[in-house]
Amino acid sequence: MDELSRQVEALGGEGLERVAAAPDSAAVEELRHELLGRSGRLTALLRQLGSVPAEDRPALGQRANKVRRQLEAAIEERLSTLRGSDLEARLASEALDMSAPGRPVRVGHLHPVHTLMRDLREVFHAYGFEVFEGPEIETEEYNFELLNIGPDHPARDLWDTLYVAEPGSVEAGEPRPAGDGTILRTHTSPVQIRAMRALEPPIRVLMPGRCFRYEAVDASHGFEFFQVEGLVLDRDTSLADLKGLLEEVARALYGADVRTRFRPGYYPFTEPSVAFDIGCLVCGGAGCPACERSGWMTILGAGMIHPTVIRNGGYDPDVYQGYAFGMGPDRMTMLRHGIADIRLLFSADLRFLTQFSEGR
Ligand code: PHE
Repeated sequence: MDELSRQVEALGGEGLERVAAAPDSAAVEELRHELLGRSGRLTALLRQLGSVPAEDRPALGQRANKVRRQLEAAIEERLSTLRGSDLEARLASEALDMSAPGRPVRVGHLHPVHTLMRDLREVFHAYGFEVFEGPEIETEEYNFELLNIGPDHPARDLWDTLYVAEPGSVEAGEPRPAGDGTILRTHTSPVQIRAMRALEPPIRVLMPGRCFRYEAVDASHGFEFFQVEGLVLDRDTSLADLKGLLEEVARALYGADVRTRFRPGYYPFTEPSVAFDIGCLVCGGAGCPACERSGWMTILGAGMIHPTVIRNGGYDPDVYQGYAFGMGPDRMTMLRHGIADIRLLFSADLRFLTQFSEGR
């Protein structure tokens, strides 16, 4: 065997070894280029074919072609092996377990007081009530005077008031109430006046919102709380309508078996005034600490709108009558869920609040 065919054989042997050892497909392609490329080593050897005696050329050519085929086959095989393990490596690193349970999306929910207010809205909606809202920052005129509570009325003591300070007076160290009588509303009743002045009878509105009082905070008092006010102004409304409505609402909220009662009450802006109680849901009426051993819990105050208030709303009390009621949704929520401390409702403590996820 002459020198040139020995070199071709040697190149084949070296090539096969190196292809088999190539670590990745890029290295294999580089080898393909080096060994078999147009300016590769096999081509370079074949260029010397001219120096070989003519009768030896066909055999040498065949040998070179065989080496090329062997190398090409080895290269393809190596590439497919590498692709296989590439795939395995990718599968291992990008593993996706289709059988794993999905990660739950964390969805928030309504605060239990808002759930109750939403339920109230739905119940009253069935009786033709629409929602009407007023401002949390009010004037003494709307919060008191227009509701028949004059400046020296002793009933003002029922509503310990947070006053908005005159600009600059807090910084100066001597807080003074703003001269225009700006306060935080102590109840939603001022919205009665706003609704009467904005709407035309027959009026049936529900007026939910936050209220504020200067209170020492304890298990049953907060300095902020919610009320849902109701107002009906029409011709020929009576206390009987009010009683019937409130009994229906209590049944819708607390079930058909709920016990109810009306007691005489007093508010300057209703006459006559009543308090509406339901049988204690904690003890069933036997008497317990939650109901102060009375067996009853008061959930709202109500009454026929005082003629002066109707006049302040812009109507003639000889033509229009109506009733109003103010509910305490915080207290009603506590009753509904057996919550003993009102402070929990305003604590923003998720351990507490996430227990009420039915309010979607
Ligand atoms: N505004 C009264 C309160 O805060 C409740 C009430 C509303 C009473 C409407 C009668 C009519 O206690």
